[in-house]
Amino acid sequence: MASASAAVALEAVSKWYDNVPAIQDATLEVMPGEFMVLLGPSGCGKTTLLRLIAGLENPSQGVIRIGGRVVNDVDPKDRDVAMVFQSYALYPHMTVRRNIEFPLRSRHVPEQERNRLVEEVAGSLQLEKLLGRKPAQLSGGQRQRVALARAIVRRPLAFLMDEPLSNLDAQLRIEMRAELVELHAKLGITIIYVTHDQVEATTMGNRIAVIEGGRIQQVGTPQDIYQRPVNAFVAGFVGNPPMNIIEAKVELSGDVVNASFQGASFQLPADLATLLRKKEVSSVLVGVRPQDVSIVKEDTVGMGQLRAKVSLVESVGSVYRIICRLDGGGFVTVDAYRDKREIRTGDMVELSITGDMHLFDAASGERLEP
Ligand SMILES: Nc1ncnc2c1ncn2[C@@H]1O[C@H](COP(=O)(O)OP(=O)(O)OP(=O)(O)O)[C@@H](O)[C@H]1O
Ligand SMILES: [Mg+2]
Repeated sequence: MASASAAVALEAVSKWYDNVPAIQDATLEVMPGEFMVLLGPSGCGKTTLLRLIAGLENPSQGVIRIGGRVVNDVDPKDRDVAMVFQSYALYPHMTVRRNIEFPLRSRHVPEQERNRLVEEVAGSLQLEKLLGRKPAQLSGGQRQRVALARAIVRRPLAFLMDEPLSNLDAQLRIEMRAELVELHAKLGITIIYVTHDQVEATTMGNRIAVIEGGRIQQVGTPQDIYQRPVNAFVAGFVGNPPMNIIEAKVELSGDVVNASFQGASFQLPADLATLLRKKEVSSVLVGVRPQDVSIVKEDTVGMGQLRAKVSLVESVGSVYRIICRLDGGGFVTVDAYRDKREIRTGDMVELSITGDMHLFDAASGERLEP
């Protein structure tokens, strides 16, 4: 099943702490040169998965391969991976050069070779002019590059990064994301990157593994995951602002299939209607992204599908984000353009679904596929 060419491969890996499962049945392949992001909420098992790959934890079950070799019984130091943590853990009393060459010195690499390797990596990270400085004399971004240089200098098979940007301020974080993506492209390195920030995940990753409750829910490109989330959890977690998810009853009447909830009802498009007839599902979760809902004042047209009252209007850059309370009680977020600036808090409005609708089984949360 596992392809021999993967840089890192997990096969049915589980990890229990006492009787509590932290990772369950994780199967994942990271290809050489890939930027793989592990994304999920706090406590879902991201760090545990990274530590299993690094060898800092032993799996309770399953097989871990690095560069095609089974490493379950291999020491962390012999796994040929480099871990980059949130705090870069540079040695404060050593110069940048000393910091970078540290792993080479501890492997007794001869001086001439050491200098060649340090200068090569310093060149590719634009650190040549900083080699004589101490960490305290560097900016946050420069420190991060030194930490990366120290990891890169010994050419590991994969880099494991656990929220490495989380203690930087917002502006620097955006710059560092860009630097890391550039560096990845330039050096062709394999990165497994942990974050709980879905914006970070979708902007940086070639692919994302979404994790919840110790289980990998979906692995795919950012587009795959955004366009076809496999379940309601992924649908609600990836996307900013989150997808609106409304639980509705399925009502068949003649040729028409309606989704109804708390007194409101709207007709489903033909393809989804056919799907629901076939599946015989009685209750669904209807998911719609905020930009796929249109909004009009109640008295303007009178043809909307759902009545609602405006609770809050936020101006976010080029869009208005309008939070509405449905007659039935639930909230719906709508991203509208500037032409909707006549809509104010307290207005009665009508909402229509104009874009893609995602349907999930209300009982299991699984996506309903044709
Ligand atoms: N050494 C341990 N002993 C017992 N339980 C642990 C241990 N380490 C982690 N856990 C539990 O395993 C689960 C996963 O923890 P993990 O640190 O992997 O989460 P995470 O996704 O990295 O979260 P965060 O985003 O907050 O860092 C949590 O429920 C946590 O309490
Ligand atoms: Mg963690």
